[in-house]
Amino acid sequence: MSTIFSGIQPSGTLSIGNYIGAMKHFVELQNDHNCYFCIVDEHAITVPQDRLKLRQNIRSLAALYLAAGIDHEKATLFIQSEVSAHTQMGWILQSISYIGELERMTQFKDKSNGKEAVSAALLTYPPLMAADILLYNTDIVPVGDDQKQHLELTRNLAQRFNNKFNDIFTVPDISMPEVGARIMSLQDPLKKMSKSDDNEKAFISMLDEPKKIEKKIKSAVTDSEGIVKFDKENKPGIANLMTILASCTDKSVKDVEADFEGVGYGEFKAAVAESVINVLAPIQQRYNDLINSEKLDDILDDGANRAARVANKNLAKAKKAIGLGRVKK
Ligand code: AMP
Ligand code: TRP
Repeated sequence: MSTIFSGIQPSGTLSIGNYIGAMKHFVELQNDHNCYFCIVDEHAITVPQDRLKLRQNIRSLAALYLAAGIDHEKATLFIQSEVSAHTQMGWILQSISYIGELERMTQFKDKSNGKEAVSAALLTYPPLMAADILLYNTDIVPVGDDQKQHLELTRNLAQRFNNKFNDIFTVPDISMPEVGARIMSLQDPLKKMSKSDDNEKAFISMLDEPKKIEKKIKSAVTDSEGIVKFDKENKPGIANLMTILASCTDKSVKDVEADFEGVGYGEFKAAVAESVINVLAPIQQRYNDLINSEKLDDILDDGANRAARVANKNLAKAKKAIGLGRVKK
C-alpha cells in the first residue's frame, strides 16, 4: 500500500479552494492508502500570527479534517509541532539546500514582495516542507497547483541527499486533481482563492453560513456575455464558478456546460451556491459537534504518537547517514 502525506496551514478557516483542491481528495485517498494528514503550524509562523488566533486555527483545522470525512482509524492526523522530528529533519535538509534555489520559489517571492521585515523562515520553509514529506517514506503528495514548485524541490533534495550520503529517502510524486487544482478568487478570477485574502468577499470559508455563501457567489465577478461556457481565458469568472459547481456535484465541467445551456447568470449562480451549501452543511454540523470535544484531543494525541514512531526512525537514519551524534563505545 503506498503512503500519502499532505499538510494544510492553520492560517485561517479553510476556503472552499482548500476543500476542492486538497481535502476532498484526502478523504477519497484514505481508503486505499497509508495516509498522514498534518496541521502544519510551524509553517504558519513563517509570517506573523496572533498567538490566540493561531491556537484556535490549529484546533479548528483538526476538527475540519475530521468533519470533512478523515477517519482517524484509517489515517494518521496530527499537529506538526507535536512531532519534533519535523524541525530536526528540516534543519538537516536546510544544510543541503542552496539559498539561490530557495530564493527562486515563487511563493517566497510573492509573500516577501514589498515587505520590510521578511523572516528567515519564510525563505527556509521549503526544506521544512520536504522534511514533513520525507520523514514518512511518502510515495504520493496530493496538493493543489500552487505547491508544484515546492514538490519539485522536495524531490531534488531527496535525490541530492541520497546521492551524497546514503540512499534512504523515497522520492515522492505529486498528485493534483484534474478539476479544481486552482480555485480562483471570487472578486478577481485571475488570482488564486486564498483563505487569508483581505477581502472577505473573495473567498468562501468552509464555515460560512448559507446566506453568506449565497451573497458571496451572487457578487462574484463574471462578464457581460451571459453565456455559461467554459473558457478560462476569456471568461475566467464563469469558468471558476463552473469548476466549483462541477467539483461540488461530482460532475464534469462538460456536463455543467450542457446543463446550463441557455440559462442566465442569476440562475446559474444560485445553483452554484446551492451545490456549495449542500457540501458544506453536513461538514459544519459535524464540526460543531467536534470542536470542543475531548475526543478531538484523544485523536490528536494518538496521531502524534503514531507519527512520531515512524518519523523518529527516519530521522535517526538521516542523522546516521550524515554523521551527526556519536556511536557509543
Ligand atoms: P494552504 O492553505 O496554503 O496551506 O493550502 C493547503 C492545500 O490547499 C494545498 O494543497 C494547496 O495546494 C491547496 N489550495 C490552497 N488554495 C487553493 C485554491 N485556491 N485552489 C485549489 N487548491 C488550493
Ligand atoms: N506548503 C503547503 C501549503 O502552503 C503546506 C504544506 C506543508 C504541505 N508541508 C506539506 C503540503 C507537506 C503537502 C505536504 O499549502
